[in-house]
Amino acid sequence: MIIGVPKEIKNNENRVALTPAGAAEMVKNGHIIYIQSTAGMGSGFSDEDYMHAGASILPTITDVYAIAEMIIKVKEPIEMEYNLIKKDQILFTYFHFASNEPLTDAMIASESICLAYETVEMADRSLPLLIPMSEVAGRMSIQEGAKYLEKTYGGYGVLLGGVPGVPPAKVLIIGGGIVGTEAAKMGAGLGADVTIVDISLKRLRYLDDIMPANVKTMMSNEYNIREMVRTHDVIIGAVLIPGAVAPKLVTRDMLQTMRPGTVLVDVAVDQGGCFETTVPTTHDHPTFVIDHVIHYCVANMPGAVPRTSTLALTNATLPYAIQIANMGWKKACTVNESLRKGLNVVKGKVVYEGVADAFCLPYHDVETVLYSKVTPGK
Ligand SMILES: NC(=O)c1ccc[n+]([C@@H]2O[C@H](COP(=O)([O-])OP(=O)(O)OC[C@H]3O[C@@H](n4cnc5c(N)ncnc54)[C@H](O)[C@@H]3O)[C@@H](O)[C@H]2O)c1
Repeated sequence: MIIGVPKEIKNNENRVALTPAGAAEMVKNGHIIYIQSTAGMGSGFSDEDYMHAGASILPTITDVYAIAEMIIKVKEPIEMEYNLIKKDQILFTYFHFASNEPLTDAMIASESICLAYETVEMADRSLPLLIPMSEVAGRMSIQEGAKYLEKTYGGYGVLLGGVPGVPPAKVLIIGGGIVGTEAAKMGAGLGADVTIVDISLKRLRYLDDIMPANVKTMMSNEYNIREMVRTHDVIIGAVLIPGAVAPKLVTRDMLQTMRPGTVLVDVAVDQGGCFETTVPTTHDHPTFVIDHVIHYCVANMPGAVPRTSTLALTNATLPYAIQIANMGWKKACTVNESLRKGLNVVKGKVVYEGVADAFCLPYHDVETVLYSKVTPGK
């Protein structure tokens, strides 16, 4: 298959969808790889790195879209890319269709095959192509919390791990899923006194079993959260209710009970945030202060560490991309049920129920789209 990797043009996006190692694997499988010049630069990969891996470099984004049977990307196509997408072209990337009607309409009109990273789903309902970014954001949340606790940044002036004779900082993590677990590991590793709250007793039992002694678990409820925010230095929001807006678990009135210089890191900001005072921020202006409490609410935290994020993302996406390239999208989605869940829009038809519902569009069962023309005449 001819595979194209355009340079990401969305603001502040420095990740790339294929590493030189991934390109080499693709070439080994007999595929032809075209990379747009400087596509890997933001993640530390040069054009030469890709050429050594057996890929060819094309000068413009138009060239890449024009030649490729499959486009592998990181972020959803933006408006200037819509017209470059061809009928029957496979697009494998994050789309987040349900929050973007113009994109949905444009992809329907393009008659391309849109496989969305975010809806590829395992039998246990986990989302293997979202997990790596939660891992990055979870680990980063502690780094950011530690940084903004410093006095220079307006923080309470506490060192996360303390020193001999001085107790460590207290970190409260609300939500013990992927983000929360990674945050707890990092916080614990730095010596902080960590508490994770979750509503799932099963999850708390698991965390209690695997975490070191400086991580405690507690049931999540308003009473417990209200008590704990008064004494914790860093509070990390890491809840998720799939398909729903995050519940507001730290309310505005709780801020007045916190110490001045307490740091709130709302990783769940992309689902509306779990602090009532959360407003999405960017890496250019990551924080704001309300009632002497610092809020860090960056919606794309992994964007700050594109090298790590690219490697983490492509570790997860590459096996799927290779399967699509080796088998073609139809066969790959037939044999791989998880990948099939990634199909959102196929040749002008919406095949993902959540997307159809979001914009009152006709929904087509993915099976009928997949198996049409497989048995001609029937
Ligand atoms: N800001 C970023 O850059 C960034 C990056 C990656 C992920 N995220 C977001 O981080 C959030 C967490 O993602 P995840 O992968 O860890 O999800 P996850 O599903 O693995 O974990 C969510 C956890 O929240 C718990 N939970 C639900 N309601 C709760 C409540 N009332 N109190 C306490 N816990 C509760 C669940 O039981 C679950 O354990 C999501 O909103 C995700 O989109 C943001």
